[in-house]
Amino acid sequence: MTPFRSPMPLPPSVAPVSTTGGIDLYRIPIRPAKVEIFPGTTTDVLSFGGAFMGPLIRAKAGRRVGVVFTNQLGEAANVHLHGGHTAANSDGHPMDVIEPGGSKPYEYLNRQRGATLWYHAHEHHTEAEHVYRGMHGFYVIDDDAECDLRLPAGPYDVPIMLRDALFDDQHQLVYDDPGNRPTILVNGKVQPFFRVAARKYRFRLLNASTERAFDLRLEGASMTQIASDGGLLPAPVPRPQVGLWAGERVEVVVDFAQVPIGGHVLLLDGDQPLLRFDVVRRVPDGSRLPDRLRPLPPLPAPTVFREVAFNIDFTGDPLPVAQVNGQPYDPERVDFRVRRGTTEVWTVRNADPVPGPFPVPHNFHLHMTQFRVLSRNGGPITLDDAGLKDTVALPPGHTVQVQATFEDFLGQYVFHCHFLEHSWLGMMAQMLIVE
Ligand code: C2O
Ligand code: CU
Repeated sequence: MTPFRSPMPLPPSVAPVSTTGGIDLYRIPIRPAKVEIFPGTTTDVLSFGGAFMGPLIRAKAGRRVGVVFTNQLGEAANVHLHGGHTAANSDGHPMDVIEPGGSKPYEYLNRQRGATLWYHAHEHHTEAEHVYRGMHGFYVIDDDAECDLRLPAGPYDVPIMLRDALFDDQHQLVYDDPGNRPTILVNGKVQPFFRVAARKYRFRLLNASTERAFDLRLEGASMTQIASDGGLLPAPVPRPQVGLWAGERVEVVVDFAQVPIGGHVLLLDGDQPLLRFDVVRRVPDGSRLPDRLRPLPPLPAPTVFREVAFNIDFTGDPLPVAQVNGQPYDPERVDFRVRRGTTEVWTVRNADPVPGPFPVPHNFHLHMTQFRVLSRNGGPITLDDAGLKDTVALPPGHTVQVQATFEDFLGQYVFHCHFLEHSWLGMMAQMLIVE
């Protein structure tokens, strides 16, 4: 395919059906759709609202959002707001599904800092295929303190979803080996271009792949990171290179002011160009990139320490068994009982043997709240681990320590590897938060 032939689309927008009673209410069908990924042909997908990327939901910190999802798929489905501090009955627990023909209201309280979140399918055993086939969308929380910083906003604040795929000759998605997905989609297009003005932009990058990790860099301009999964960093950080693993988000500011009109900037994964920014015009830039953004919340002293080990048992028959602490997911089992309000440190380990027959990368995702990464392999964290995180990389042999405070909600929540083919095979466990 000729590169840089299609414009990069923006996620579709959606208007609330009502905004009364202190809640913005949306209705979004979950349904099969035909979408144009390759020019002039259509691809069958499973969608939120009929497009390959679900509609962008824009929430305001402190104001509630309700979404009634109706399931028109013909099979069970559900929705999880990844990174959301959500009450258990709206969290999209893997066993809490919407039956075909049914609908369910999810309530999102948005009692958290401004952040780039995303929503995706999470029913147990079909989450990986459903997300792969298109059940993914952005959910952005804005907050007033952040708006006061005057970072690039409006048309200069752009969500970009990256993910991989395998297509057959008919341009249909093939759901098969996650290690063989050579095509990268950028907001649902292959190597698109995006026309920009010679000024600052804020890009909200999401890796919505089920397993792939990206190694991102720019050619022709530089990236400055301002936020990670859970919102702003204390200060901007220049990032020549960003590792973005499945489920993670990173926000960067890119200033195109030094690029001549008619010039190009490339976003690459390793050496592979993903997206071309075409600088086409000059406009005044009233936005800023302040030296200080926002301090992270204080870290209370931890009182509970736990161990979490992820591994895959390849002797499983007919399929390998993916495990947390030696056991595959069991919805009937409570793995950890957590007292509400406690601060805990979890030591999370990729326990697949290294060197070994199959060293496998994993990552760790926690529902209900963000955490801080305290250490990696007993040493300092990397720039990719910084800030408020909800998903963190676990390459073969790695161990991270993470710290979280479990406030606000009671009930059952999962934590798992966000390689969705691994959580599907059982690399998931659950905590019960109690008084
Ligand atoms: Cu993004 Cu439990 O998931
Ligand atoms: Cu894994």
